[in-house]
Amino acid sequence: MSEAPFARRALTVTGMEELGAYRVLRVADPDGAAPEPGQFAMLAAAERWGGGEDERPYLPRAFSIARHLDGESHFLLEDVGPGSRRLCELRAGEKLWSLGPLGQGFAAPPDGRRALLVGGGVGIAPLAILQDSLSAACTVLLGFRDAPRVAGAALLSGAQLATDDGSAGHHGLVTDLLEEEIRHDSHAVVYACGPAGMLEGVRAVCARAEVPAQLALEAGMACGFGACFGCVVPRRGGGYLRVCVDGPVIDAAVLEHVEEHAGAPA
Ligand SMILES: Cc1cc2nc3c(=O)[nH]c(=O)nc-3n(C[C@H](O)[C@H](O)[C@H](O)COP(=O)(O)OP(=O)(O)OC[C@H]3O[C@@H](n4cnc5c(N)ncnc54)[C@H](O)[C@@H]3O)c2cc1C
Ligand code: FES
Repeated sequence: MSEAPFARRALTVTGMEELGAYRVLRVADPDGAAPEPGQFAMLAAAERWGGGEDERPYLPRAFSIARHLDGESHFLLEDVGPGSRRLCELRAGEKLWSLGPLGQGFAAPPDGRRALLVGGGVGIAPLAILQDSLSAACTVLLGFRDAPRVAGAALLSGAQLATDDGSAGHHGLVTDLLEEEIRHDSHAVVYACGPAGMLEGVRAVCARAEVPAQLALEAGMACGFGACFGCVVPRRGGGYLRVCVDGPVIDAAVLEHVEEHAGAPA
């Protein structure tokens, strides 16, 4: 694992591009540790990061590192609330705070297995840097809700698509495509990131077919480095995992189910 210097750093925004319903935020990070695919950073805008003059600032928010190229880190953002909206407003030259790279990333394909990348919505982000890092060709299966979100598929190359509304590719779930791929050739390892319902579908398909899977989970995170226990998920057979330090990438075999995480940061 790449170790993050254990302090947040002030970084400069170098660009913000629209990608359909998403934004790609680029920041200069020439001196930061090179991230492993699947790692994340805790981000906060340097200014106006809070409700107003007398309100407390927001906690930083977790974002997967989607790409690391030429001394820049890229993040794929979806505006779902106050923190992500403020980050989407940033423009070149503005500053943000970043703590990262954090967490455990994806492990290389074992036993010559082919890599099957399965992403849903904004969860495709860590699969882009993973695709960049793989030496052999991989199969990419991406699912989106609707046409504005399908634009996000441009982050990866050669993707097969599934959409809830039938606007592109297969009209249905990305797990339908996954089942088809595994039926065709099960000597594979699955790398997945997306909403909890999708990840649970991926986990169940892979468990039935005895295909190993690495799942990048989301959880409400207050600290991002193991101190607050706000991000725990149950481990198969008892006990808990902290998604920020034991994950976010977790071997599907140690999970009974992937559940919607209740905790969200304030
Ligand atoms: C490891 C990790 C990687 C992530 N990578 C990305 C990414 O690449 N791109 C991206 O857009 N988002 C990513 N997220 C989610 C992102 O952190 C949240 O969307 C963000 O914190 C929302 O903050 P907000 O203030 O905009 O909205 P809030 O008001 O905090 O939340 C808006 C809505 O989203 C829910 N929510 C908030 N955070 C989470 C969460 N972590 N998990 C599940 N539901 C949540 C809330 O319950 C609420 O319904 C990631 C989260 C984790 C833990
Ligand atoms: S976010 Fe604090 S322990 Fe995981």
